[in-house]
Amino acid sequence: MSKKFNIGVIKGDGIGPEIVDEAIKVLNAVAKKENIEFAYKEYLMGGAAIDATGVPLPEETINGAINSDAVLFGAIGGPKWDNLPREKRPETGLLGIRKALNTFANIRPAIVYDELVDASTLKPEVVKGVDLVVVRELTGGLYFGEPKAKEATKAYNTMVYTVDEVKRIAEVAFNIAMKRNKKVCSVDKANVLDVSQLWREVVIEVSKNYPEVELTHMYVDNAAMQLIRNPKQFDVILTGNIFGDILSDEASMLSGSIGLLPSASTGGTTGIYEPIHGSAPDIAGQGIANPIATIASASMMIRFEFGLIKAADRIDNAIKKALKEGYRTKDLSAFDAKIICNTKEMGDVIAKFASE
Ligand SMILES: NC(=O)c1ccc[n+]([C@@H]2O[C@H](COP(=O)([O-])OP(=O)(O)OC[C@H]3O[C@@H](n4cnc5c(N)ncnc54)[C@H](O)[C@@H]3O)[C@@H](O)[C@H]2O)c1
Repeated sequence: MSKKFNIGVIKGDGIGPEIVDEAIKVLNAVAKKENIEFAYKEYLMGGAAIDATGVPLPEETINGAINSDAVLFGAIGGPKWDNLPREKRPETGLLGIRKALNTFANIRPAIVYDELVDASTLKPEVVKGVDLVVVRELTGGLYFGEPKAKEATKAYNTMVYTVDEVKRIAEVAFNIAMKRNKKVCSVDKANVLDVSQLWREVVIEVSKNYPEVELTHMYVDNAAMQLIRNPKQFDVILTGNIFGDILSDEASMLSGSIGLLPSASTGGTTGIYEPIHGSAPDIAGQGIANPIATIASASMMIRFEFGLIKAADRIDNAIKKALKEGYRTKDLSAFDAKIICNTKEMGDVIAKFASE
């Protein structure tokens, strides 16, 4: 009997539907090959939900996500909804679903594919072979801490972490490291911040349960510099909300293209897997978006949530093969392209390679 997994699908706005369709195509190709069954149920969020229901995050979407084994998400937003008040905007839907699912761990791999080293703004010898993951705490720290206020002559936010919050995100990072190169670099500002001193103590405590993993610590200012100087030194970077916000964007630019990188918001009720980019309204509907980030997100989803390592390897290898053979969507057409393809053709070729 084949194994069955229920995937909640939120296509969203702009290029969202185009790229998610290609990820589903690739998932179906590996499902057939590996005797797995994926069942999909679509839900609305963002602008599409506003147009259909008047709100960016309908109850049905929250309940549907809670009852799914994982959620595959495209992107939301666009100029059509930009002038709405903040609580009614598409982005409120995304923040709302992360909160509803309590996804406290944001996982952002940064991979530099050999064929695309020239797409990076850094020198090829610096970025070739980069394969790291930023594990960012997503629901605590400076962005959520109380008290916070903006008054007439001063404003303040509070950076606060509890032992439990640090413990659970550290465990996520160590578990990921165990499946990779067994190195965790915890990034903080323990030379200045009390909250970082606690962070460091808890991470050291958690590390005792993972004796195989090498733990190092780095101050965030140095980490920002090291990511540019020698990014290959990193395997898993573990850090808090604000530091991770900045470092994960910095790390993603090592690869040079926004259309390639996946991400996950996980740890709570249901994990959400999505490309790091937005809804790209400037190219929506043209069929030229790069679907690779979303296809890689689908691979990450079945690897981390469903434990389908072989099927996920099939997808990752198919992406590498497509790039190696010179298939490029328009955004990457300047880098060693042999065959320029549209969104659908890139999906077709990756699905084909994934089924070989
Ligand atoms: N997670 C999300 O849903 C998310 C994230 C970021 C931005 N947004 C929303 O997306 C909308 C557009 O934002 P933006 O323009 O700042 O960021 P964006 O990531 O959508 O686009 C930035 C640039 O990258 C290009 N690009 C992005 N993805 C691509 C792909 N797959 N293939 C080829 N080119 C690609 C776009 O064409 C654009 O020129 C806004 O409404 C924003 O709020 C949503």
